[in-house]
Amino acid sequence: MGKEKVAIIGSGNWGSAIAKLAGGNVKKHSDVFDDSKVPMWVFEEDYEGRKLTEIINTDHENKKYLPDVKFSENVVAVPDLVEAVKGATALVFVMPHQFLSKCLDQLEGKVEKNAKAISLIKGVGVEGSDIHVFADVIQDRLGISTSALSGANIANEVAIDRFSETTVGYRTEEEGQMWQKLFQTPHFKVQLIDDVAGVSLCGALKNIVAVAAGFIDGLEYGNNSKAAIMRIGLLEMKHFCQEFFKDVKEESFLQESAGVADVITSCLGGRNRKCAEAFVKQKKPFDELERDMLNGQKLQGIHTAKDVHIFLKARDRLGAYPLFDKVYHISWEGLPVEKLTEGL
Ligand code: NAD
Ligand code: 13P
Repeated sequence: MGKEKVAIIGSGNWGSAIAKLAGGNVKKHSDVFDDSKVPMWVFEEDYEGRKLTEIINTDHENKKYLPDVKFSENVVAVPDLVEAVKGATALVFVMPHQFLSKCLDQLEGKVEKNAKAISLIKGVGVEGSDIHVFADVIQDRLGISTSALSGANIANEVAIDRFSETTVGYRTEEEGQMWQKLFQTPHFKVQLIDDVAGVSLCGALKNIVAVAAGFIDGLEYGNNSKAAIMRIGLLEMKHFCQEFFKDVKEESFLQESAGVADVITSCLGGRNRKCAEAFVKQKKPFDELERDMLNGQKLQGIHTAKDVHIFLKARDRLGAYPLFDKVYHISWEGLPVEKLTEGL
């Protein structure tokens, strides 16, 4: 069997942190991976008067989305998506979920038949009463086996080698081991579990909980309230997974980084939390806060809250998930934020 050729599809804050790890690890495991080049698809834009791809390929740094962190020189920014995945057998999908569908339109029929993929995207695809995790969406659209990676992984901390853990929900154990080799470092521990859906859903749903935690911070209710939101949120996550995805594993919630650990880190330190706090304090809409506070990075939690609301409404199950529902109504329908804890 030939060596795996890696391509990173996405180059935002997390995409860049992951490209840094992968660039180093293909060299460390050059028996498994082609270490000469790790193409990273970059949605082209100008930054400080230069093309972002030129900045990355010259300075070996994504100055817009992950400043002050250097890539190894084998990480190469490519502005054309189809060109970036040419010949690749290990595809890493790591873009904000709102752009996935358009990328898949371009990639259909263009990827290697023996390729495998992994989704690092946090969110869900909803159409009325249907719901899908993105690993399944990628697998179905491209016809390639697709695993999922999610965990307590604030990108800026992972990128500077602060100790963290993550979870790979694998399709086959062999693929799980390959993804572990691509991402694991002494500072970034990759655990494996046979639970693609559980890992994916935890990563999506915890973003709704993080928005709720940010509302609590905006209201200045303190630590007991935040802890209560985390507990109730984790329970709603678990009920949701078990109600709608029968095969999810119990361990994913309490024993894996993808579950409780990601709820905690996101409720303490994530972008969703930060913008939700500002939503309460500054009384501005989320799109304005995203623009003002995130320098092009994208919020996920409020969109996932809307997707989950649409799905639960179509299934007539809104009443079973009061925290998720409150986050939706506060974010999108003008419900006063003080109502967050009412009836929980
Ligand atoms: P990001 O939030 O930094 O978003 C910016 C990216 O979006 C840039 O690469 C930009 O080029 C791209 N973009 C903007 N407009 C676009 C368009 N029209 N078409 C295509 N791309 C466009 O992205 P991120 O932090 O890398 O997040 C990617 C995924 O990883 C998300 O699902 C997120 O939830 C997840 N994640 C993020 C973190 C984190 O700490 N940042 C950690 C774990 C998981
Ligand atoms: P935010 O998108 O809220 O920053 O969360 C990042 C994350 O997923 C941490 O695991």
